[in-house]
Amino acid sequence: MQAPAHPSHLPRPVMPQCPPQHMLEGQKALVTGGGSGIGRAIALALGQAGADVIVNYVSGAETAEQVATEIRAFGVRAMPICADVSDEDQVRAMFRQAIEAFGTIDILVNNAGLQQDAAFEDMSLAQWNKVIGVNLTGQFLCAREAVREFKRRGVKPEVSCAAGKILCISSVHEVIPWAGHVNYAASKGGVMLMMKSLAQEVAPYRIRVNSICPGAIRTPINMEAWGTPEAYQELLKLIPYKRIGEPDEIGRAAVWLASDYADYVHGISLFVDGGMTLYPGFETGG
Ligand code: BGC
Repeated sequence: MQAPAHPSHLPRPVMPQCPPQHMLEGQKALVTGGGSGIGRAIALALGQAGADVIVNYVSGAETAEQVATEIRAFGVRAMPICADVSDEDQVRAMFRQAIEAFGTIDILVNNAGLQQDAAFEDMSLAQWNKVIGVNLTGQFLCAREAVREFKRRGVKPEVSCAAGKILCISSVHEVIPWAGHVNYAASKGGVMLMMKSLAQEVAPYRIRVNSICPGAIRTPINMEAWGTPEAYQELLKLIPYKRIGEPDEIGRAAVWLASDYADYVHGISLFVDGGMTLYPGFETGG
């Protein structure tokens, strides 16, 4: 009898029994844009949970090295790699280097992203292309390399129930339209359906693909929105939970979503946003 084209009859997975600080023990992670902001917090959280971590960065070599040093303090390996995620050759070279160093990659966190805001009629093609290039094409290029590696290796039950995990760091703006930021909102809307379509395609190989959609998180990208008391009061009008989020909170969500505790969670957008997507304008109106 011919072997099935894909492994749709894999055995029932063995669920983890370990405490949270060992949730990712023995796994190898690559975090794009891991040198700052949310990426840094995710890279640290994965390291604390026992994973070896590649800290990708495109500028700020020293900061990325610092993050790697902090991760090593958890007793795991960490290595910064410079690569522009929107460049196919650089992405391929990064994955080759990462796999050579760690043997494989079990977790990809597609985090690298940026904003280049402008009123619509003033937005240049360069601003449009830059944001789509990094936020959407970058996630495609990295996910493609990761899927190739996950399929090559297959499931190693002693490491994880899944052959690999991809976390796309999206945004509440994958569903909330954002005037003055159409390139950014378009990129995140694209991430949503790229993630879900990819999730559908690779599920039979036990490759899990999900997104985390942060709301307003205290990082340099949105300092304008929380840097002064007046701006912060305005921001709180958009957040039912009435506080800004901290990068660590995304880190903790990433550890869970990448771990076998979430083995049956597939193709979802996990909003970590203090309720920003709950139409806060309707608290009183409507
Ligand atoms: C953006 C931030 C913004 C937040 C909520 C994020 O995706 O990068 O600038 O504060 O969404 O609007």
